[in-house]
Amino acid sequence: MYLFINSLVATMQDPTGYGLVHDGAIVIDDKNIVWVGHIDDIPQTYAKSEQINLEGRLVTPALIDCHSHIIFGGNRAHEFEMRLEGQNYEAIAKAGGGIISTVTATREATEDFLLANALIRADALIAEGVGTLEVKSGYGLDQNTELKMLTVARAIAQQRPLRVKATFLGAHAVPKETDADTYIDEVCIPTLQAAHEAGLVDAVDGFCETIAFDKAQIARVFDAARVLNLPVKLHAEQLSHMGGTKLATHYGALSADHLEFATQEDVVAMASTGLVAVLLPGAFYTLQETQKPPVSELRAARVPIAIATDWNPGSSPLGSILLAMNMACTLFGLTPAEALAGTTKYAAQALGLKDCGYIAPGFSADLAIWDLENPAELSYRIGQNPLHSRIYGGVM
Ligand code: NIG
Ligand code: FE
Repeated sequence: MYLFINSLVATMQDPTGYGLVHDGAIVIDDKNIVWVGHIDDIPQTYAKSEQINLEGRLVTPALIDCHSHIIFGGNRAHEFEMRLEGQNYEAIAKAGGGIISTVTATREATEDFLLANALIRADALIAEGVGTLEVKSGYGLDQNTELKMLTVARAIAQQRPLRVKATFLGAHAVPKETDADTYIDEVCIPTLQAAHEAGLVDAVDGFCETIAFDKAQIARVFDAARVLNLPVKLHAEQLSHMGGTKLATHYGALSADHLEFATQEDVVAMASTGLVAVLLPGAFYTLQETQKPPVSELRAARVPIAIATDWNPGSSPLGSILLAMNMACTLFGLTPAEALAGTTKYAAQALGLKDCGYIAPGFSADLAIWDLENPAELSYRIGQNPLHSRIYGGVM
């Protein structure tokens, strides 16, 4: 049992703020938090535990990146150049670049290569206090490569002190060798079934977009997920309004992600079904989008908002959850408290996790300790890493 004293604790137990406790103390026992509160209120039974003096530092829940694509081969710096020379993301994708160019590189890469590179990316996130990371497949688009990616996702969690949620994103793009409907029915759904059978899938995602799949195609994948009892989520309304958000709410999805083109009607649907709006400012920034997600509507409707890196080689080569938080504030108008809620409790909700994202009794002892005096500094600073240390599952 450990007793952390002399800290400023952002418990996140406050619907609109940080749930701050000044002169805070936290007791952890083995893997879990057993008590948090003001030092003067500490129960006698805990007062004699081994003490760790945090010297006034800020403590938050370990951060959660609930949307990433960190397993991939190659890179797309050339497409970055092309966009700056005037081409757009959709045109590059239609010409066989975009996601498909990463598919080619990922098919060619060995499992060892993919793992080694994914670990470098996971380490960058861990170094910023991340304790839980979602990772998607979707750069394989054939059974072997999708299974290879999902095997790598599981291996990340074995090799690092990190909780990894693996999401099957077979419906990410249409591979060159076939058409969308044939792909969904003959490759994507059977691959999902095989990956589930192998115990490699925690959730199912899709990309509902003109350059990817329509609602009917995504619905077939979601029906297959439902049969397997797997939760779903969706890349929705990123580049155009396709109706993906409503489809996601219809299937009781955990989250709808991106949402730049979501409407007030979509927001109402989200509010009534309790799914999380995952905002991905790295993609908005990289693609120099101008249409912003409807943040004030989401806020007014009390839709929980999460923030993630969307780390991928194309639309969001963003390897920093702290920078994603800064961008969510500066580009989308979130408050720093909303940004932190978006990478803690609401990111946990977006992953269907009930034991992380808060500092509260019974929650996993996943903590981030920061050389900061004010939690707003997490979002305010740009390109600095104030992490002092991270505790994962009670281990320092
Ligand atoms: O979340 N939108 C679809 N998937 C990724 C993009 C992946 C890529 O460009 O490689 C995203 O932005
Ligand atoms: Fe994505």
